[in-house]
Amino acid sequence: MITVAILGMGARGFTYAQAIGEIEDAKITHVCEVNPIKKEFIKKMFGIEEKNYYFSDDEFLSRGKLADILIISTMDQWHYKHVMKALDLGYDILLEKPIASTEKQCQEIAEKTKKLNRKVAICHVLRYTPFYNKLKELIDRDTIGKVRSITQTENVGYYHYAHSYVRGNWHRGDLTSPMVVAKSCHDFDIIKWLMGAHCTAISSFGNLDYFKKENAPVGSAENCYKCKIDCPYNAINFYKENPRWFMIFSLDPDVEKVLSNPDHPYGKCVYHCDNNVVDNQVINMMFANNAVAQLNMTAFSNKMHRNLKIHGTLGEIEGDLENMTITITMFGGKAETIDVKNIASDFSGHSGGDKQMIKDLINNVKNKSDKIALTDIFEALESHKMAFKAEESRLSGGQVKSI
Ligand SMILES: NC(=O)c1ccc[n+]([C@@H]2O[C@H](COP(=O)([O-])OP(=O)(O)OC[C@H]3O[C@@H](n4cnc5c(N)ncnc54)[C@H](O)[C@@H]3O)[C@@H](O)[C@H]2O)c1
Repeated sequence: MITVAILGMGARGFTYAQAIGEIEDAKITHVCEVNPIKKEFIKKMFGIEEKNYYFSDDEFLSRGKLADILIISTMDQWHYKHVMKALDLGYDILLEKPIASTEKQCQEIAEKTKKLNRKVAICHVLRYTPFYNKLKELIDRDTIGKVRSITQTENVGYYHYAHSYVRGNWHRGDLTSPMVVAKSCHDFDIIKWLMGAHCTAISSFGNLDYFKKENAPVGSAENCYKCKIDCPYNAINFYKENPRWFMIFSLDPDVEKVLSNPDHPYGKCVYHCDNNVVDNQVINMMFANNAVAQLNMTAFSNKMHRNLKIHGTLGEIEGDLENMTITITMFGGKAETIDVKNIASDFSGHSGGDKQMIKDLINNVKNKSDKIALTDIFEALESHKMAFKAEESRLSGGQVKSI
C-alpha cells in the first residue's frame, strides 16, 4: 500500500484525494489543512484519523516523514517553504505548479532535489491528456513533415478569469506569481514538448487593460448584490448558475447570503477589485531547431479552453481541447478529423489529465522508477524559466530575453 499525505486540501488537494481514492493500493493517511471549517468533512470523506489531521504546516512538517508521498497543493507562495522542508524529510513529492513564485526559488528547489537525490513531480497535467498525447504522436511520426511553427491560444474564459484572476486566488501577481507563470507554465511545457526542442529566446507584450475602475459602467455598484446593471461578470448570477464554482470558496450554499457581505472578495464588482495581473498577453518563442511558437493568453473568451495550430513542411494540424478534435490537412489534400473522444473514455479533470497523472505517480513510486513523472522538477524547470523570462520581457516593453 502506498501512503499519501496532503498538505493544503483546497480545490486541487481535494481533486487528487478523490483520484487516489479510486486506486486500490494507495491511501491518504495524513492531511494538513489550515482552514478549520473543512476538518470534519475531510476526515469523514477520506477516513483520516484524528491524530493524523493537522492544522499547522510547521507542526505537520516537524513530525518527520509520515507517508511515502507528500502532495503539496497549497497556494503558489507557500510552495518554496513547504517543498524545501519536505525534501529534507525524504518524501517523494508531488508539487503543484507553479514550482514557486520566483525563478531563483525554482532553481534552488531543483538544486536541492539533485543534491539530496530526491524525486519531485510537478503537476503539468496536460501531459497526461489523450488530446495532447495524440498530437505528440502525430508530430513524432512526422505526419505533417518537420514542424516549423506552433500557435496556441489559451482562452481563459471570461467567468474563470473573473473568478480566479480578478476576485480570487491569483488576482495579485506580486503576492502569488505572475499570470504568465501561474497559468501559462502549462502552455510552455506543452509547446516545448510538442516542438521537441529547447526554447532559446522569448519576448512578450501584455497588460491589464480592462478590469479597472475607469471601465466600470456608469451607475454600477462596488458589490454585485447592490448592482442594477446587466453585466456578464455579475457574481450573484454566475455563482447561482454555477454552484460548483461557488463551492470552491464556500461551504455554505446560500449565494445571496454569502455574497451580500460587502467585504467578500468573490462578491465584488470586477471593476473595483485590487487585481494587478494581465488580462491579455502574447508570447513569442524561438527554438533551437529554428522553429517558432506563439502563445496568446486571453481573459476575453466565451469558453475556457485551449486551441492550437501546428504548421509542418508538408501539412498542418488544428486542434481544439474543448471539442476534442484534431484535424490534419496535408498540403493539397483533404482534411481528416480525429475525434479524441473515440480514443479514450475518461475526460474528467483537465481533460483526463488529473487522474492519469495520479495513477502514473502511484505506479512510479510503487515500482521505484527512476523518473517519478513525465514532468519532474528538472523537466519542469524549463517551462518555468520560459514563463519567468516572458514576464521579464513584458515588463521591459517586449525586449528579447535569451534562455
Ligand atoms: N495543475 C493544475 O492544473 C492546477 C490547477 C489549478 C491550481 N493549481 C495550483 O494548485 C495550488 C492550489 O490551488 P487551489 O486552487 O487548490 O487553491 P485553494 O485555495 O483551493 O487551496 C489551497 C489550500 O491550502 C490551504 N492552505 C493555505 N495555507 C496553508 C498552509 N500554510 N498549510 C496548510 N494548508 C494551507 C488553504 O486553506 C486551501 O484549502 C496552487 O499553487 C495553484 O496554482 C494547479
